[in-house]
Amino acid sequence: MAESIAFSRSADRETIYREIVPQLEALTSGEADVVANLANTAAVLKEAFGFFWVGFYLEKDGQLVLGPFQGPLACTRINFDQGVCGHAYTTKETVIVPNVDEFPDHIACSSDARSEIVVPIRGANGTILGVLDVDSDRLNDFTETDRKGLEAVVRIVERFTQSHTNSERIE
Ligand code: SME
Repeated sequence: MAESIAFSRSADRETIYREIVPQLEALTSGEADVVANLANTAAVLKEAFGFFWVGFYLEKDGQLVLGPFQGPLACTRINFDQGVCGHAYTTKETVIVPNVDEFPDHIACSSDARSEIVVPIRGANGTILGVLDVDSDRLNDFTETDRKGLEAVVRIVERFTQSHTNSERIE
């Protein structure tokens, strides 16, 4: 298994997404453990883009519960009707928030977070298993490039979560 990832450090985000997606695919296809793969996925995104916070919230018993992440201490549980994560979970759509202070229900796990993007993770039958949450300490930090790039990353996450488990929940 590769122990490191290679990417063009000074390139634009579109280029970096293009470089890391196949490496993530290779990295996670050689490992069956879902938590290990989620942890490395968060680590790769943190290393490649230096995001302030990047991680997963997973559906467990009617809430979103904190999963593998990179960054400062985070809230452990989010209700489906709360925050950007809850919104992405219930609408089943990617949400980009340019200014978290203008999102009515934003959960301020850290007062340094300024903008964020959340991508839902789909299970085999279309239910949502959880979300990928990426936060920035800069306003307006996420664009359509991030939507496309992070949705490509989540397609890989869906492959290793769906192929590994028959249940509709990540353990
Ligand atoms: N920002 C999220 C909460 C999670 S933390 O930012 C890590 C939200 O409002 O859904």
